[in-house]
Amino acid sequence: MTPFDEAFHASAERHERAFIVCVIVMMALLTVATMFYVVHDFGLVTTTQSFHSDPTAAEREVAAADTGRVVKTGPNSYAVHITGKAWRWTPGVIHVPEGAEVTFYVTSSDVLHGFEIQGTPVNLTAVPGVVGTVKYTFHRTGVFRIICNEYCGMVHHAMIGQVIVDARAAE
Ligand code: CUA
Repeated sequence: MTPFDEAFHASAERHERAFIVCVIVMMALLTVATMFYVVHDFGLVTTTQSFHSDPTAAEREVAAADTGRVVKTGPNSYAVHITGKAWRWTPGVIHVPEGAEVTFYVTSSDVLHGFEIQGTPVNLTAVPGVVGTVKYTFHRTGVFRIICNEYCGMVHHAMIGQVIVDARAAE
């Protein structure tokens, strides 16, 4: 090897090492950014979801009585029974306080609707005769739109509700 070859080789190795370091740093940044996004915007791990295909008579009664109301079930937890019907959600506007853990019981009284709360991982299908359950904790105040993401006819696109998360009054 000539001195030139050696110098070239050493410089190539330096560049290669620098390149590898860059890639590792980029991967680390990407991982951190992804975790941050998932945890902060989507409230990871607070969502549980299940379907109950054969509610008992008692459960039906409770659901019927509570439809449209936000029911307080604990110090910071709430339950809401929501029915989708072409082309609206009932209740259409839901108020909960900041930090509330809300369990949504979702069903449909006609066709399939898609119950999705934008900006959250809440997304389940509203099925006639079936009660779907999904739980979510609203950590920040603001208006979250409930949309229908399952085509259900002419006015499907306007089947929009709201979850309004209110700031807690100073205590
Ligand atoms: Cu309801 Cu689309």
